[in-house]
Amino acid sequence: MNRLMIFRLSVDLSMTVLMVVAMAYQITGNMIHEVVGISLLGLFILHNFFNRKWYKAIFKGKYNARRILGVAVNFLFLISIAVILISSAPISADVFPFLSSSNDMIWRQIHVLTSYWGFIFMAVHTGLSWAMIINSVSKMTDIKHASRMRTIVLRVLAVVIVIYGVQVSVERDIGEKLTIYNPFGWGYDDSAMRFIIDYLSIMGIYISGTHYAVKFIQKQNKRKLTSSTTSK
Ligand code: HEM
Repeated sequence: MNRLMIFRLSVDLSMTVLMVVAMAYQITGNMIHEVVGISLLGLFILHNFFNRKWYKAIFKGKYNARRILGVAVNFLFLISIAVILISSAPISADVFPFLSSSNDMIWRQIHVLTSYWGFIFMAVHTGLSWAMIINSVSKMTDIKHASRMRTIVLRVLAVVIVIYGVQVSVERDIGEKLTIYNPFGWGYDDSAMRFIIDYLSIMGIYISGTHYAVKFIQKQNKRKLTSSTTSK
């Protein structure tokens, strides 16, 4: 495992953690939120620089269901991050107070609603690369052989995370937060640790959902391919 790979994985992990911290506006307060948001922009640019080959390959090769899903999600994620950051300038109170607008209600609505969507897109985007992430972590930790026991433990853990994630999504009104802006906040009494666990579990739903959906699509494609070659 080379150093660059470790650095790239650290950037991805930091982005995930900072995204959860950025979502915790009611806990961190405004100043930390704005600084974390700007730092995320820096990491986002770095992440795109490392993955610039993806943009070059976009018009090359054939498109199957997996690839269409990947391109659609990546663009939605890219657009949401751009909108979050553009809308942050007119509502900034600490980092860019000179840019803030007096008529900022619409920008606040755009910023907050897009943030919840961006959070979901980020999780789906991570789910699309989950197999590659697991592969890199296995290399890093020198795990070479498949283990039935390890697979069972990890799958049970994934099921627990998803069940908990669904429960807290309902408790925290995530569905409403994706559609309605509440200017008075959502009034959920929270500790920082509880928020992090809950939001990581919500991410877990979309990461594992996407990962298993992609596995299913790939299995179907393989089956189609083998049945068409055997029928020839
Ligand atoms: C990717 C980066 C960012 C994400 C994910 C994000 C996310 C959020 C979320 C989820 C909220 C609402 C929290 C809630 O009430 O439920 C919020 C509010 C806010 N954010 Fe950000 N934010 C980001 C970047 C920024 C930046 C860069 C700034 C300013 C420089 C900023 C300024 C604000 C302000 C002022 C509010 C309060 C809006 C209100 O009055 O309701 N954010 N942000």
